[in-house]
Amino acid sequence: MITQINETVEFLESKNILNPVIGIVLGTGLGKLVEKIDIEISIDYDEIPNFPESTMEFHHGKLLFGTLEGKKVLVMQGRYHLYEGYSLNQVVFPIRVFKKLGVQKLLISNAAGAINLNYEKGSLMLLDDHINLQGGSPLLGTEVKTLGNPFVDMSAPYNKEMNEKLKQIAVENDITLHEGVYAAVIGPHLETRAEYRYLKVIGADAVGMSTVPEVIAANHVELPCVAISVLTDSCDPDNLQPINIPEILALAEKAEPKMITLFSQLIKTL
Ligand code: HPA
Repeated sequence: MITQINETVEFLESKNILNPVIGIVLGTGLGKLVEKIDIEISIDYDEIPNFPESTMEFHHGKLLFGTLEGKKVLVMQGRYHLYEGYSLNQVVFPIRVFKKLGVQKLLISNAAGAINLNYEKGSLMLLDDHINLQGGSPLLGTEVKTLGNPFVDMSAPYNKEMNEKLKQIAVENDITLHEGVYAAVIGPHLETRAEYRYLKVIGADAVGMSTVPEVIAANHVELPCVAISVLTDSCDPDNLQPINIPEILALAEKAEPKMITLFSQLIKTL
């Protein structure tokens, strides 16, 4: 794994991806942030050595390097999900590469279902904490030890300072930004009514199929991170509607300008 990381870093540096400061992972339906970036380099995931081979989901998987709000940003336009059949180590591989390339802060977005029914569809939630229900860790084995202590402290997985800034930016821009606990499941199936009840009981405010592996890997290599969910559906077990994927994508897209404001204003302060 270490050899692969070094190989990938060397390749990206040879393509002039040098000194990125901020890393961004763009989730489902949240690709428009790239329109604000002055892009210098764009590489398909398929062309990057050791990046896992793309699946159908990944026709748009691209690594972008450029400038946003005066800062050098490295952006994953599309992420790897467990439900596509990748291992946890494959899912977090790009995060390890980001760190090695010099990325100092990581911003993550995703789409999630609202377990907390006071959080309305289409609104945003800042992750304050998470529950890992994906049944594994990207820190297994002996090789990860060379990247950092695998017994990573998770008392504050999301960077407090950046979270405070995001909350302030939300107030200044009249954006409703809830705060809560994100539960990560494997998917790709949605949850049953009983599972939604269970998620509520264990303290989740939102549920989705990503982000937690990346956050664990980021904490492992001491890369401060934040994450925001777009809440695309209401997970009400007493009135559960069949899932509507086009509606989820449309809601994510509609919430995008708010996400872009939060991320770009945050980057300005970093
Ligand atoms: N469950 C899991 N993942 C999701 C959901 C959901 O309800 N909505 C968007 N991503």
